[in-house]
This record gives sequence, C-alpha cells and structure tokens, in this order.
Amino acid sequence: MSEAWDKKDYVDRYNDIYAPGEKELMAGADLLELNADDDLIDFGCGKGDFLACVLRLVRSAVGVDSSPHQIDEARRRFKKEPHVEILESSFQDFDPRGRSFTKAYSRDALHHINDAEKEIFLKKVSAAIKPGGLFLLEDAVFEFPAADLDANWDALMAEAEKYYGDSWQARREEVTGYIRNEFPTGISELKKMAEAAGFKVLKVSRDCMFFHSLLLEKK
Ligand SMILES: C[S@@+](CC[C@H](N)C(=O)[O-])C[C@H]1O[C@@H](n2cnc3c(N)ncnc32)[C@H](O)[C@@H]1O
Repeated sequence: MSEAWDKKDYVDRYNDIYAPGEKELMAGADLLELNADDDLIDFGCGKGDFLACVLRLVRSAVGVDSSPHQIDEARRRFKKEPHVEILESSFQDFDPRGRSFTKAYSRDALHHINDAEKEIFLKKVSAAIKPGGLFLLEDAVFEFPAADLDANWDALMAEAEKYYGDSWQARREEVTGYIRNEFPTGISELKKMAEAAGFKVLKVSRDCMFFHSLLLEKK
C-alpha cells in the first residue's frame, strides 16, 4: 500500500472528493449481473460504497482493503450485516482461505500495485473464482503501453483537463502524481495478464485514454 492510505486525512479527502456515485456503482452491478446466488468480493473496497449499494442483491460479500482507516469505516458500516465481511489485507498478501467467489469487483485500486504484483494477484484472484464467474476491473489503465507514457503525455494532459472539467486545476497535482508515480498498466498488457491468469476478456470499455474497465470471465 502506498503510505498515503495509512493517513486518515488523505483517506478522508479521497472519500470526500472521489467517492463514486450510486449510478456508476449500479452500472457495475448490472455488468456483473449480480444475483441472489452470488458470493462477491470487492478488492480495494475502501469504505464500502460498492458493497453498500449491492449487499441486498447477493448471498454474501467480502471487501478487501489494506488501509486501517478504510477498514474501520467499512466494518462500522456493515456491523449489522452478517453476510458482509471486511478483510484487512493487501492485494499482495491476499489469501482467500479456501473460499471461492462467483463475482469480483475492483474500482480504482489495482494501479497501486506494480505489474509484477498484478500478475501474481490476478492468478490468486482467478484461483478463487468459480469457472464462469465474472470480474469487473475498473482502473487507471492507459490506452497505450505504459512504457510510452512520455510520448503520450501532452495528449493525456489535454484529455485529463477535459475529463475533469472545472475540477482539473484542483486535482491536477494529485492526478499527475498517481499517473507518474503509481502503476497504471497499458490496456493490452493488462489483457495479456488477465488471459495468462485464466480469464477470458469479455468486454473493454474506455472512459478516457487513462481509464478503462475490463469485464473478465473465469475460464
Ligand atoms: C482510490 S481508492 C478506491 C476505493 C474504492 N474502490 C472506490 O472506488 O472509491 C483505493 C483503495 O485501495 C486501497 N489500497 C491501496 N493499495 C492497496 C494494496 N496494496 N492492497 C489493498 N488495498 C490497497 C486503499 O486503501 C483504498 O481504499
């Protein structure tokens, strides 16, 4: 985990200004075709916004996050929901402890780990998902190879300005920081990693040149 997620102020600020809206979260639930036979896992669940939206749709739900502040808030939020469990773990140390899932979700979280860690993580996730199960992965993912970031920088900044609109000046430093210093992967590299881990890529959606969603099916 980047140390930032250990700091309460940082976590509170993220949760205030970047928290997803219900419409976006429910669009993810629809793509995953969540239903009463599903055992769901959310990687990088944060304070549990996605879980809160979908907990009535599924049989069981697990949220995984490595930030103690996010974990405290999520555990408080779901303390009266016996079918929701919140696990404090990094992606790198994720251990399903014999459990298996029919659906998995991750929003805006995997770019915190590098490509070598992603490869290992995707294999562990794949092993924990039943054949035919779906994994919706939404993240900072470039439409070009990550090694070509410098060559694409000006175009990316122009698109970021349009994408964030009025809030761009306030967010610019933070957004450029994570694009430069964390680990967004290129879409074709990420597809290859997912396929090598045992997933079929069902659908790729482009939000902008640095945000994509992949809908994966466990083979
Ligand atoms: C940008 S937030 C996204 C939270 C939530 N999914 C959302 O869309 O609002 C990223 C989350 O990933 C968690 N995180 C960062 N690095 C992690 C790691 N290595 N393992 C597990 N969780 C991590 C952070 O604590 C944070 O809650």
